Amino acid sequence: VVIIGGIILLAYLIGSVPTAVWVGKKYYGIDVRQHGSGNAGATNTFRVLGKKAGSIVMAVDIFKGWAATSLAVLLLHWGVIAPDQLIMYKLILGVMAVVGHIFPVYVGFKGGKGVATLMGMVLAVHLQVALLCLGVFLVVLLLTKYVSLSSMLAAIAFPLFLLLPVFRPEPLLLGFGVLIAVMVVLTHKKNINRLLQGVESKANINPFKSK
Ligand code: G3P
Repeated sequence: VVIIGGIILLAYLIGSVPTAVWVGKKYYGIDVRQHGSGNAGATNTFRVLGKKAGSIVMAVDIFKGWAATSLAVLLLHWGVIAPDQLIMYKLILGVMAVVGHIFPVYVGFKGGKGVATLMGMVLAVHLQVALLCLGVFLVVLLLTKYVSLSSMLAAIAFPLFLLLPVFRPEPLLLGFGVLIAVMVVLTHKKNINRLLQGVESKANINPFKSK
């Protein structure tokens, strides 16, 4: 119980690492939460600080989700959990990392929306479905240029893809997929309002230009 509790706490602390805030403050002297959308995530870092900082924050935030979720494999390796408990612990640890990202203990519990960290988690839980969701994200992004809309549709697509007959998911994973979709929509409440009012900012992406 102590080991499992410690690992769950560690997953939260990994997720809590406020990459966007720390990169912004340390290298640019800027708290990204006071600029752009005010969100401490990769998207707003791209928006406020540019491609280099944005890419670093995105990579680290995805890694946080993947690493925290993969701690479950360690628990299995140490014989603390049984093989049939692996998926449950991956889900618990991944969710803890996402919660950490949204409510980071190191910077006053004001973090991001959890999308990149969630992507890392889903990569560690179900690679094929993660790639399909990434596909949805990219297609919606190229068509609409709204990162928020792309994030929400990719999250909603997650449980729907799981329902495809080829995947035959465990009920726990499916339930979790629905939870993810709801969570992502909830963290995007302000974005939804902006989208409805037609004032959501668009990403500056042009696939035909390399600059
Ligand atoms: O990953 C978060 C994204 O979906 C929206 O971010 O900064 O546009 O609110 P932002």
